[in-house]
Amino acid sequence: MPKLTFLGHDAFLLENNETRLVFDPFLSGNPLAQEKPENIKADYVLLTHGHGDHLGDGIEIAQANDATIIAPFELATYCSKKGCNVHPMHIGGEFNFPFGRVKLTIAHHGSGADLGDDALAYMGNPCGFLVTMDGKTVYHAGDTGLFLDMQLIGEMNSIDIALLPIGDNFTMGIDDAVKATEFLNPKTVVPMHFKTFQVIDTDPHLFRDKASEKGFNVTILDVGKSLEY
Ligand code: NI
Ligand code: MN
Repeated sequence: MPKLTFLGHDAFLLENNETRLVFDPFLSGNPLAQEKPENIKADYVLLTHGHGDHLGDGIEIAQANDATIIAPFELATYCSKKGCNVHPMHIGGEFNFPFGRVKLTIAHHGSGADLGDDALAYMGNPCGFLVTMDGKTVYHAGDTGLFLDMQLIGEMNSIDIALLPIGDNFTMGIDDAVKATEFLNPKTVVPMHFKTFQVIDTDPHLFRDKASEKGFNVTILDVGKSLEY
């Protein structure tokens, strides 16, 4: 039975008895995170895009664990130049890993990384991830606005858990995330990408109320809490 643990912001640990995957491990820069990057044990690090609150401690965690980074080609190539093992993928592509299947979805967002130079570093397109492990599917939407293709993602996949941003300003807000839930029709939705910064301080309980009214099951995970599914 896979287990999903919320590490704060968009960072999650997804694990079964054999394999541990970590998504967007933004920990050392996140005042709300509880885990230290050096305590994270992972076999794979999945990165949705190059923004600092997603790339986060990904490179350091991958190196410390000899883990493989799964990311869109441009971001994966950057991580490989930093000495990481990488498995580059791109939008619409899927691949069967030893632990299960990963498919990259579109995300309407940016992906430039501020590495301290004058210009942002180009990291290609951002993505979302569909990860199927032990027959159960998690959809991590990454940072994105609402898009109608979520209907297709919902039609073509039986989603057990959808991880959706609700913080507004940079991504979907609450009402758009409720519409996304309708499109995706997941068994459970877990809100993410809220409260970390002042401009994304939306209320997950309001999201839960609004999605519940439409008949959906919402699980608000506190940082450090897990869901087995
Ligand atoms: Ni972003
Ligand atoms: Mn973000």
